[in-house]
Amino acid sequence: MSARILLMAGDGVGDEICREAVRVLNALQKHHGLDIELDSALVGGAAYEAEGDPLPESSLARARAADAILFGAVGGPQWDTLDRPLRPESGLLRLRAELGLFANLRPAILYPQLAHASSLRHDVVAGLNIMIVRELTGGIYFGQPRALSAADGGAREAFNTMRYSEAEIQRIARAGFETAMQRSKRLCSVDKANVLEVSQLWREVVTEVGRDYPEVELSHMYVDNAAMQLVRSPKQFDTLVTGNLFGDILSDIAAMLTGSIGMLPSASLDEQGKGMYEPVHGSAPDIAGQGTVNPLAMILSVAMMLRYSLGRGDLAEKVEHAVGDALNRGLRTRDIMDDERQVASTDEMGGAVADMLQ
Ligand code: IPM
Ligand code: MG
Repeated sequence: MSARILLMAGDGVGDEICREAVRVLNALQKHHGLDIELDSALVGGAAYEAEGDPLPESSLARARAADAILFGAVGGPQWDTLDRPLRPESGLLRLRAELGLFANLRPAILYPQLAHASSLRHDVVAGLNIMIVRELTGGIYFGQPRALSAADGGAREAFNTMRYSEAEIQRIARAGFETAMQRSKRLCSVDKANVLEVSQLWREVVTEVGRDYPEVELSHMYVDNAAMQLVRSPKQFDTLVTGNLFGDILSDIAAMLTGSIGMLPSASLDEQGKGMYEPVHGSAPDIAGQGTVNPLAMILSVAMMLRYSLGRGDLAEKVEHAVGDALNRGLRTRDIMDDERQVASTDEMGGAVADMLQ
């Protein structure tokens, strides 16, 4: 039976990058026997405009029925003043929560061809290969209570709650250890245990789970230090595991080490390994519709989908090689270029990758 893939392009550059992902999938269907059915659904600002809800019931139902989801990006300035539940980002957060996509894998790999694009010295980042395992359905993003008080004469006040249960920490810790086992067996857990009770529990539980993984060398680091170490000497890390908010921040830092956030894919998995795949970069409304966005983060997200949800690691490698080949041929989108004159469009980059797969 063919695997059902749901495309949720969303807003901003979402459409442009999803178009390139589809070209790659078409090439794999045509030339490599990939057996899939593609469907699409609205999400984010686009869904709000059409149906008044950033995650309409019908989109959620289709997401539940799919074997894997390819997600573009959501958000834009025109929706920033809506009530929070109506904003595009809320559609994404609800999708993650409703589908139980608690384990977010964000690899940061430096392609040797792009070493110049990093803002760090070449020797600091050459060969960089880090995996951040971010908890995605808990912590301060979802913790109750939360509120922004109305200004009824007095000074306004607002608060959120960073909350983790033991069970939530255990399952993401396991995901971290399992990931480390597939890599170089070093796991660094990032928290703020010197200040926060929630981090104290995090550290205790991660340490306990670690007893089941004697082969993995576990270390702990405070998040402020981890941010500093990531730019000071990032190659000391292999796999990192951390909570939702810290993971959000650290993954943007890790992205920039590789030269461009336009290169970074991600996978968000549930307990059965069903997944949603999305580039780490957002909707980039400032460049949307210009045909200049880098489609490689999205295309590399397709590769992660092939590997983690469709059991086609062989095709994932083909896609990753095709990306490397396109870079070897000198194709560079604006975000990774070193010379104005040779800038490739979104379409040229996506087309080059698809051509390599023939
Ligand atoms: C990310 C994004 C999202 C997040 C936003 C768009 C809600 O920044 O996936 O990293 O904060 O998780
Ligand atoms: Mg983010």
